[in-house]
Amino acid sequence: MSISSNETRSSIGFGIDFGTTNSVVSAFNGRQITSFTDENNLPHPSVIWFRGDEEEPVIGREAKKNIRDYTNEPGHKFVRSIKSRIQEQQEIEIFGKVYYNADIASKIFQFLRKDIQNRFSSFPDLSEAVVTIPLYFGGRQRRAIRRAAELAGIRVKTFIHEPFAAVIGYLFEKYQSLEKFKDLRKNIIVFDWGGGTLDITLVQIADGKINELGNAGFPNRAGDHFDEMLMNYLISQFQDENNISSDDFLLNSGVAGIFQNDAEFSKIELSDQDKSSINIFDFFALRNESYDFFYAIKKEEFESIIRKDVEDAVRNLMQVLNASNTDITQIHEVLLVGGTSKIPLLRELVYEIFGISKVIPIQNSNTLISEGAAIISFYNWQPYLVSPLCVQLSDDTLFKVFDAGDLLDPAFAQKEITFFCTDNRSGEAHLIISEQQDLGKSKEKTLLSVPVSKTLQNIYKEKINSQFFFDEDLVFTVSARGSIKGEARQAFLQDVCYGLRFA
Ligand SMILES: Nc1ncnc2c1ncn2[C@@H]1O[C@H](COP(=O)(O)OP(=O)(O)OP(=O)(O)O)[C@@H](O)[C@H]1O
Ligand SMILES: [Mg+2]
Repeated sequence: MSISSNETRSSIGFGIDFGTTNSVVSAFNGRQITSFTDENNLPHPSVIWFRGDEEEPVIGREAKKNIRDYTNEPGHKFVRSIKSRIQEQQEIEIFGKVYYNADIASKIFQFLRKDIQNRFSSFPDLSEAVVTIPLYFGGRQRRAIRRAAELAGIRVKTFIHEPFAAVIGYLFEKYQSLEKFKDLRKNIIVFDWGGGTLDITLVQIADGKINELGNAGFPNRAGDHFDEMLMNYLISQFQDENNISSDDFLLNSGVAGIFQNDAEFSKIELSDQDKSSINIFDFFALRNESYDFFYAIKKEEFESIIRKDVEDAVRNLMQVLNASNTDITQIHEVLLVGGTSKIPLLRELVYEIFGISKVIPIQNSNTLISEGAAIISFYNWQPYLVSPLCVQLSDDTLFKVFDAGDLLDPAFAQKEITFFCTDNRSGEAHLIISEQQDLGKSKEKTLLSVPVSKTLQNIYKEKINSQFFFDEDLVFTVSARGSIKGEARQAFLQDVCYGLRFA
């Protein structure tokens, strides 16, 4: 009995989708996926409710449910969308305790871990997991997430891009076993539009591998931004109607919290209904006069507010295809994931481009990303590099530092290479890092300028000692110094394409 339970323990993979608005954990035991959603089968809202008289905050649905009633009350503070600011380093004081954002985010990780202990006690402890990240997250954000997870006692096995994990979750859902999808050849574009970010990834599945061919991530252009635009619109309507000038208008923070909550609710409602009403008593006071707020917004009105952003998002999708030299006919499936992708206007525009049959309806869209991460965690798949990373030499040839297929294991993915400086006239040597693409083309990724001596007659005398490595957060680092000048410089590259081998 104990042996078999130990076996289960060692053979389960956890994946965590820590989202701006919602977070969820999934587990995979080699046969079956379990997603630890809440009692309503929904992911847990990433809302943290601090109460002045309590040691620990309330997290998740319970916190979100109480925003409206308590946000205006003394002794209560709600923190939302902490992921969007996770890397910020300033101290925040909440009821006498000082936090960094990563400390606040760790409360969500802690909640997710405890929730499994409390409600799913037959599962092992969530002590390690594959954690998903948006495409634009660089080293600072990844380190902050790692810290938040570790503070909650969860080791991050590896990071994986959110839309990439979504594809794995989708394939497993569709084919139910690796065996069945190992012979697949497909190009899938994923459009993951959440609360904080829009992430677009083109992936190719072929030869038992799944590769990212193109990525683009856009922070602050997602659901939270739409809530804000809707609030700004409603405020201007309110001001016009009541003849209140912008200079006189300021919402107290409690009402602002309620307003944000209700604006989000209306936005969601407008995906299914033609109209939505917002009703807030004591919305605003000026010169001893109190104003209530009542507005019924129509779907077309909301669409006119967001149309430009939705069109831009679709343009970004097309740019990812163009940048990867892929045309629409080469795309077999389109996955629309994330809450903001439920907006009908987006769906209409995507249908127009790809045709309705390519846009795959997804049942488990709330948990797809964490499910993909759990599968990666179970198999211990290690990401590899999709295209070679090269240094451009002075004769324009490319010197391969890491090759396509090289595993991004920090223990191995490191190299030391010495180059000669061939032009010291500016006092700087330039290391141009490029990603070699198909057909011998290359795409410049970054440039590192290293100080060198200007006065040497023999230009080949100064060497550039360079180190190249991937760290545990999968960030590519180049560190170089001139052998004579001696000043070290560093550059980082986080937007490389990752791949996974599954067969
Ligand atoms: N039916 C809907 N119509 C429009 N927007 C919706 C709908 N349902 C949810 N949303 C919005 O989607 C966002 C949440 O989506 P999701 O849970 O995918 O985000 P997240 O994963 O937490 O964020 P991110 O991936 O950006 O970190 C919120 O802004 C929410 O208001
Ligand atoms: Mg998300």
